[in-house]
Amino acid sequence: MDIGFRLEHPLTGASFGGRIHVEGAAGALAVIEAAEANPTALTQALARSHGVMVISGMGAIAENPALLVRLSRLFGPEVENYRTTHMAANMVHPEVPEIFVVSNIPPVFRAPPPKPTPPLTPEGKLPVQFPHRRGWHTDQSYRRPPPDISLFLAVQPVPQGQGQTLFADGIAAYEALPAATKSRIETLQGLHIASAAGRKYDAVKSGAPQRELAPHERPVRQPLVRTHPVTGQKSLYLCEYGQMDWLEGPIEGLEPGPDGEGGRLLVELAAHYTDPRFVYVHEWTQGDLVVWDNRCTLHAATWFDAEHLARVMWRTTVWGNPGPAYAGEVKSWLPDMEG
Ligand SMILES: [Fe+2]
Repeated sequence: MDIGFRLEHPLTGASFGGRIHVEGAAGALAVIEAAEANPTALTQALARSHGVMVISGMGAIAENPALLVRLSRLFGPEVENYRTTHMAANMVHPEVPEIFVVSNIPPVFRAPPPKPTPPLTPEGKLPVQFPHRRGWHTDQSYRRPPPDISLFLAVQPVPQGQGQTLFADGIAAYEALPAATKSRIETLQGLHIASAAGRKYDAVKSGAPQRELAPHERPVRQPLVRTHPVTGQKSLYLCEYGQMDWLEGPIEGLEPGPDGEGGRLLVELAAHYTDPRFVYVHEWTQGDLVVWDNRCTLHAATWFDAEHLARVMWRTTVWGNPGPAYAGEVKSWLPDMEG
């Protein structure tokens, strides 16, 4: 039987994103084999979807986790091996070190984010827009080069209505900016840093003592406007309170700090990027796989009842095509690669 990939887009309730239907193939292995036989089908669908794509019915990967790595390899040349990148062992799948485990249960014990304050919008809806919603980021933007693609599988999701993942469309958000803002930010660089460095907005704002950073922990510059290396589309590229350097940045060359000109611009751009018109809310079903392009989207996790529910999600990260701005760079973020 012929196997066909059909893209339905946009995603329900959103202005972007796509859902892949694989006709003639049943189950995760059949879908992966079909994708391997037609290796541009999924990457082209992802590009047409502005970087967020849902494939349901992939639950069989939970019994054969290497399949997730096999599928990930279709999206780029390098799938991160977390065992070689100094990830805490309890966060890494014991048999397949390319899988990062996001879970509130042992051995990971990662707590979900708190509910926003107030928990609902004035209209009674789930808050999505920054700064009411916190935690918007693009994966590992504190690394140069940053990663391209993430894959996220619902092995054991929580019931719908909680534990969602929110996505925002950086291409549409960029296109909707006023011309004056586009030209103002065209050449600006954000300063990104891991939250563990202690330079989050809240830490700097409260005057928390700062520590000396090792070279591989230092903030890295990333353009506020990225040109997608596959589609040529421009996109906003930034994070908000937790993954920017609020001490020296967040924007290079502008007055630093939480109350500086750079901070004001960053807050304005982050609120614009996460405007509900650019956001998709994914409610998880077991076996859902969501693929996102970190070069042109933001995402955020939401609260779930971790006292009573167990949630297990698997993530892989794909590298290799950050665009010409990163040409020739070696990974700056590995301590054992210095000198
Ligand atoms: Fe993330």
